[in-house]
Amino acid sequence: MIKTIKEHILEVENFTANDKESVEAFRIKYLGKKGLLNDFFAEFKNVPNEQKKEFGQSINQLKQTALNKVDSLHKSLENNAEQVGVFGDLTRPGNPIELGARHPISIVKNRIIEIFSRIGFNVSEGPEIEDDWHNFTALNLPEYHPARDMQDTFFVQTDPDVLLRTHTSSVQVRYMENNQPPIRTISPGRVYRNEAISARSHCFFHQVEGLYIDKDVSFADLKQTLQYFTTELFGKSKIRLRPSYFPFTEPSAEVDVYWGLETETDYKMTKGTGWLEIMGCGMVDPNVLKNCGIDSDEYSGFAFGMGIDRIALLLHQISDIRLLSENDLRFLEQFRSVL
Ligand code: PHE
Repeated sequence: MIKTIKEHILEVENFTANDKESVEAFRIKYLGKKGLLNDFFAEFKNVPNEQKKEFGQSINQLKQTALNKVDSLHKSLENNAEQVGVFGDLTRPGNPIELGARHPISIVKNRIIEIFSRIGFNVSEGPEIEDDWHNFTALNLPEYHPARDMQDTFFVQTDPDVLLRTHTSSVQVRYMENNQPPIRTISPGRVYRNEAISARSHCFFHQVEGLYIDKDVSFADLKQTLQYFTTELFGKSKIRLRPSYFPFTEPSAEVDVYWGLETETDYKMTKGTGWLEIMGCGMVDPNVLKNCGIDSDEYSGFAFGMGIDRIALLLHQISDIRLLSENDLRFLEQFRSVL
């Protein structure tokens, strides 16, 4: 019997395996409930007394050898798995690569730029910190105009006035000062107004303003251009122009687009009228052309300006303008699929 045990010890010592299943079978064969070791232990009581000592030592040795073997086989199998190479287990799912998303403001801004670039408008940009001339004076805003009030404008410095631009019309002034007609340019950018922050308005937002100056530009050209724009951006071609006032345009108008009244949201958005106000526009006041060094007898033009944020809220059914500047990833990630 002791001889058999010794043979088993040898067998255990020489055992090798390349996979977990074989190691497990081996473990069960020796160390399992119905394994050989338990058989030997059960045999113990039948062994004559004088052999008990040697027998006991042998089965303990067999048990220890088997335990060590199983342990070392497990370890070497694990090491092998790690050594499969830089690729590891090729069947494992890949590490997800987080893709960024464009900000809804950028999405809408890029769409607007793209639509106007198709009809020959270029993009012009200017500083967010402006002087009084480019933001107000050149644009025909009289000294007493409320927009010049501290309550509406953030002043960085007074006398001479330095301020955060309240519209990107300031860029149009810069553009006219440096370029002669024909001019076709749109000016996207961030603007600042001293307003209380709420779901509907913020103290900074984004605009795209457009400027078209050439010989014989008429109000009809303006209307045609805007109609092209609303058709391309919203898929809505019905617009109306309501008389309005801006110091830098004459005549001036507000542009409404007919959104429709098909759904409950349409009712809410348009306050039951079906119409949505989307921008201001008008024929550039000859004074503004003169201020910027353009001959107002020879040239005329139109200008328009719209808020990007409001359009982004409309197009993406966003209920609160503050979401646009809070940088909450749960909000921003929702725009992954939009280019
Ligand atoms: N600058 C105006 C605004 O900020 C918009 C506008 C631009 C209106 C050009 C008319 C012409 O509200």
